[in-house]
Amino acid sequence: MASKNQFVTFNNGQKYPIVGFGTWKSKPGEVEEAVKVAIDTGYRHIDCAMVYDNENEIGKAIKQKIDEGVVKREDLFITSKLWNTFHQPDYVETVLKKTLSNLQIEYLDLYLIHWPMAFKEGKLEDEWFPKDADGVTLEGNGSYIETWKAMENLVTKGLVKSIGISNFNRKQIENILSIATIKPVVNQIECHPYLNQKKLKEFCEQNNIFVTAYSPLGSPDRPWAKPEDPSLLEDPKIVAIAKKYGKTAAQVLIKYQVQRGIIVIPKSVTKSRIESNFDIWDFVLEQGDIDAINTFDCNGRVLHLNWNSHFKDYPFHDEY
Ligand SMILES: NC(=O)c1ccc[n+]([C@@H]2O[C@H](COP(=O)([O-])OP(=O)(O)OC[C@H]3O[C@@H](n4cnc5c(N)ncnc54)[C@H](OP(=O)(O)O)[C@@H]3O)[C@@H](O)[C@H]2O)c1
Repeated sequence: MASKNQFVTFNNGQKYPIVGFGTWKSKPGEVEEAVKVAIDTGYRHIDCAMVYDNENEIGKAIKQKIDEGVVKREDLFITSKLWNTFHQPDYVETVLKKTLSNLQIEYLDLYLIHWPMAFKEGKLEDEWFPKDADGVTLEGNGSYIETWKAMENLVTKGLVKSIGISNFNRKQIENILSIATIKPVVNQIECHPYLNQKKLKEFCEQNNIFVTAYSPLGSPDRPWAKPEDPSLLEDPKIVAIAKKYGKTAAQVLIKYQVQRGIIVIPKSVTKSRIESNFDIWDFVLEQGDIDAINTFDCNGRVLHLNWNSHFKDYPFHDEY
């Protein structure tokens, strides 16, 4: 089935749909239906992660849509991420294979190191958020450099088509580039008008790395959100721009990233939103509106994970 979308081309020649479908916080019991609706709507790029604890259900949805003949495996672009307790190089393949079996697929299109920070190393059956008696997350000894080499082996073995990183800052990307024989194709980072990532985007572009914008709508369902936190979707300046085009605030936030050449992965489990978030191909934001949105940046990071800021590879101390 044909799908409207725009594709980017990675530094290894692989093409990838610029709008994808997010699945963090999409619970078992709702995510299977959400992914089916997404595929029926035309999404072909699905953003997963082992730590979201829902890859099993996503796998069922993918299998059903392939069995129904709605899509073929090669029409889909499936991303997943290596969790922080699994940075030890000799374990990376085992973890990837578990993700593949949960998703009921033979290969991933894109596999990311979820965070540069290593948590205390564990096995699949262990706690994914290891903590001490005071509830403080335990740091691991791992180095993302060694992890990257293990990620490269997955490409060589044909288990994943592309590899990338997530939540890496500029210095950490430089460290990867200095040893990589296979370059990362993307850096998946928080990105929206309150944190537009102008500098990191420019740095990534100079190095032929695409940015993927996560939490593009401001992640209003993040577990630590407070009622008094600013709401991007309700920001009167965004709402006014949306009104001008006869579109929703979410559609403007998604199109903003597309027009910047940034891959974008909004999440929803609500049918009408899944559909409307993908209905962004019939309008173009004027440059004046893009310029205006660019001025809304206020270093408004919502996924700061600052309870791990003592970790040696915590990424958000540096300017970018
Ligand atoms: N690499 C990483 O470390 C990382 C971190 C965060 C996120 N991600 C990825 O990025 C994806 C997106 O980020 P996110 O989940 O944090 O947040 P998001 O996509 O910015 O926002 C999701 C929230 O917005 C709501 N929503 C969706 N469409 C809407 C619309 N049209 N109108 C009003 N509300 C709408 C959703 O509600 P309903 O679902 O109830 O409809 C949900 O509460 C994740 O799901 C995940 O795949 C990656």
